[in-house]
Amino acid sequence: MINSKLPNTGVTIFTKMSGMAKKYEALNLSQGFPDFEGSSELHALVGRYIQEGNNQYAPMQGALTLRQAIADKTKKLYGVDYNVENEITVTAGATQAIFTAITACISKDDEVIVFGPAYDCYEPAIQLCGGITKFINLEAPDYKLPLDKLVGQISHRTKMLIINSPHNPTGAVLTHEDMLQLQTILKDTNIIVISDEVYEHIIFDGANHRSIVSYPELAKRAFVISSFGKTYHITGWKIGYCIAPRTLRKEFQKVHQFNVFSCNHPVQLALAEFMQKEDEYTGLLAMYQKKRDVFIKGLHGSKFKFVPTTGTYFQLLDYSQIDSIPDIEMAEKLVKDYGIAAIPISVFYKNPPEEDRMLRFCFAKGEETLLRACEILKSI
Ligand SMILES: Cc1ncc(COP(=O)(O)O)c(C=O)c1O
Repeated sequence: MINSKLPNTGVTIFTKMSGMAKKYEALNLSQGFPDFEGSSELHALVGRYIQEGNNQYAPMQGALTLRQAIADKTKKLYGVDYNVENEITVTAGATQAIFTAITACISKDDEVIVFGPAYDCYEPAIQLCGGITKFINLEAPDYKLPLDKLVGQISHRTKMLIINSPHNPTGAVLTHEDMLQLQTILKDTNIIVISDEVYEHIIFDGANHRSIVSYPELAKRAFVISSFGKTYHITGWKIGYCIAPRTLRKEFQKVHQFNVFSCNHPVQLALAEFMQKEDEYTGLLAMYQKKRDVFIKGLHGSKFKFVPTTGTYFQLLDYSQIDSIPDIEMAEKLVKDYGIAAIPISVFYKNPPEEDRMLRFCFAKGEETLLRACEILKSI
């Protein structure tokens, strides 16, 4: 028999809710993926690179043209230079980048500070390395970074801190002030940071994405992780990247080369070419802002309470005026009785706040689906 390394882990809530949505033929606003296609030009580029015979292993660190495109974009957007030869790695999605960064850095009994609710792939990776996750809860309704609590949680064992902005599942966004304060807090420590920035281009109401790369004291200790899946509506291609200073990248690469070795070659070449079209990522904001606005306008008059999300394609809805049952039960009830699937956010916490009654809805969906969803939600 196998002695499970993750004894308390079952299938993820995304698998469960998407499975229930299918079974009950419900509108699926649970898992975070678009129900519309990305650019047909990008799809055709992949076909072209396949036809042209780019079907063998890509370089281990990623195709040079793609690493160059990532470096150029980082310079253009955030004004920071990263070296294509030794500071950028293309990964099989952000998930692999996060897993690889954690595996490269965390040993037994190292502590990693994670803000809950947190995307669900962080903790299992820490656990597999024998590390200890120290959760600090963000608090509704604004889920602001509790910097005072962070200071209290740092110890001589703290090896790593994981931040995520724009934040899944709350939609909260770290501000320039937050980043400056974080910089001050970490200045005299050796703490490594993973900055999960997969939603960097999905940010609303004039807010700016504050990438960790723009803060030198943080950038020098940071693995910065992004995902093409989110930016180009291709979550099924599982492709992303990690940028990090040379010394961190060196350790990252040691794990990466035995973890996946290299990633899908024709897809990388296609993305490198497609990235030259800046409008494709700068235009994302307006497209998702419209969807968010349709969704929250459509909810007008419903019993759900909410603060409009500032980033990501998720909107939290508070159902405390409707029911007092726990969120997992509420999510199941919505699928079975009302035909709409959402994600209960307690699963993103180690110690979920007892009083919260909150569900996460993904609005990366066509307008018709969003309007149907609003009609259902208003009827509850
Ligand atoms: C915050 C966050 N990080 C990482 C990921 C994983 O990205 P990928 O699909 O590129 O592995 C997701 C996907 O939903 C996410 O929401």
